[in-house]
Amino acid sequence: MKVLITGGAGFLGSHLADAFLERGDEVFILDRGPTLKIRHLLGHHALHFVHDSLFNETILDGLIARVDLVTTSPRSSASSTTSATRTKC
Ligand SMILES: NC(=O)c1ccc[n+]([C@@H]2O[C@H](COP(=O)([O-])OP(=O)(O)OC[C@H]3O[C@@H](n4cnc5c(N)ncnc54)[C@H](O)[C@@H]3O)[C@@H](O)[C@H]2O)c1
Repeated sequence: MKVLITGGAGFLGSHLADAFLERGDEVFILDRGPTLKIRHLLGHHALHFVHDSLFNETILDGLIARVDLVTTSPRSSASSTTSATRTKC
C-alpha cells in the first residue's frame, strides 16, 4: 500500500512511518519542518520525503493522487479546517 503522512517528520508521523515501512508499505512524508526524527529513514528505498507545507495544494493534490491512504498528524493540520476534507481513506 502507498501511504501519505502529512506531518510525517514529527512525533506521531515518524512512528507511523516506521510502522508502515516495517510492514512493507511505500511511504510519502509531506512535512515543512526539520527531519531530525526521520533521519534514520531518509535513505530507505520506500520512503519519499517532500519538504513542503500541506497547504501547498498543488503538492498535496499530486501526492494524494499517488497514494491509497492519507494520514495527518494532529499538529500538521491544526491551523486548517479544510485539510480534513481533502483526506481520503
Ligand atoms: N514524548 C512524547 O510523549 C511526545 C512528544 C511529542 C509530541 N507528543 C504529543 O503528540 C501529539 C502531537 O504529535 P504530532 O506528531 O502531531 O506533533 P509534532 O509537533 O511532533 O509533529 C507535527 C509535524 O507536522 C509538521 N507540520 C506542521 N505544520 C505543517 C504544515 N502546514 N505542513 C506540513 N507539515 C507541517 C511539523 O513540521 C512536524 O514535523 C501531542 O498530543 C503531543 O503532546 C508527545
